[in-house]
Amino acid sequence: MPLVNMRDMLQHAYQNGYAIGGFDLVSLDFLEAIIAAGEAQRSPLILSLAESHFEYYDFELAMAAAEQAAKRSSIPVAIHLDHGASFESAVKAINLGCNGVMVDASHEAFEGNVAMTKNIVDMSHACGVPVEGELGYVAGVEGEDAEKHPGEVVYTSVEEAKAYVEQTNVDLLAVSIGTVHGRMKGEPVLDFERLQQINQALNIPLVIHGGTGLSDEQFKRLIENGVAKINYYTALADAAGKRMRDNVAADKRCGYTGIVSGIQDAMRAEIERCMVNWGSAGQADAVLAVSEAWQPIHHVIIYNADVDDTAQVSNMMREGEKVLSQIPGVRRVITGNAVQEDAKYKFSWLIEFVHENVIDSYREHSDHVAFADNLFRPVAGDRISIDYIENHYPE
Ligand code: 13P
Repeated sequence: MPLVNMRDMLQHAYQNGYAIGGFDLVSLDFLEAIIAAGEAQRSPLILSLAESHFEYYDFELAMAAAEQAAKRSSIPVAIHLDHGASFESAVKAINLGCNGVMVDASHEAFEGNVAMTKNIVDMSHACGVPVEGELGYVAGVEGEDAEKHPGEVVYTSVEEAKAYVEQTNVDLLAVSIGTVHGRMKGEPVLDFERLQQINQALNIPLVIHGGTGLSDEQFKRLIENGVAKINYYTALADAAGKRMRDNVAADKRCGYTGIVSGIQDAMRAEIERCMVNWGSAGQADAVLAVSEAWQPIHHVIIYNADVDDTAQVSNMMREGEKVLSQIPGVRRVITGNAVQEDAKYKFSWLIEFVHENVIDSYREHSDHVAFADNLFRPVAGDRISIDYIENHYPE
């Protein structure tokens, strides 16, 4: 199950002078193409789900597919919320299975960006999840012509970047040095000197947004100067779009499967080209060797009720399912009643945490404390509570 800690994966890339693609997906075709490319190139990869794209697909359904694809792959994979817009989005993403989140408060003034980012970092780290912050502003919109969204590029300042990382404790930083989201006419001019200074000042993996349209030489220089993660989307969407237009041109009456035929291959070729060019091809085994496997914790409780009122017990369980599942780092809350009438313990909770860190942060969370003190413990005096880490057996 090579879902791994994104922090370890990117640290390996940073220390070994290559970059891992954060490929944004908007459909199953993207997901399958990204994984197939990674398998073919033995490359670590990041499945990126951008909040700005949620109008095109159901985030919850896409997460289930992304997680399943990651689990059955043989290469190291992380699942990342791209351009998370709020604290609530970050919690939702983590509870749905993202093991990396990006906070995009780059539109805020410095203090506002720091405050929002720090809040999300504290919550995410308590869930074992690394965080990407952004300082400066990368203009444009993924999948569109860059000129349509001219928005002033705000370059990342070295001094502010240093203060931002110190104050927020982000694990990686997206910097603005001249790249633009979306499709560009010609190559952008990049400020490599600024990038070099930021890298020297921070010494943490840096991220480039707006990977589409950069030249091989530019990628090489970005990576030489500390870029360990490259976000990439528009070129994939364009490769798929071109294949669909070609399909329609070849057969004007083709239906859905005819129109999308071959788009995975078209995207996969582009992704593999990136993996080779950015140096992540062939790094899968080395990354697996140094990365923490992403293993959920099962918080198991079996108990008997001290009250005879079965409705009171059911209501308590229903309330618990509702309240506890909102706590950061909780994947799911399942309650149960013993099947055998003579079972030693009549009731159960099965609560899945995303990471071992959540054992403590869950216990201390005010919603858990209130629920446990007011509703659960008064009812369940006789109980056993144990945390189990999910086993992963090597192939
Ligand atoms: P492009 O669409 O320009 O490749 O940028 C992708 C991106 O930065 C997503 O966060």
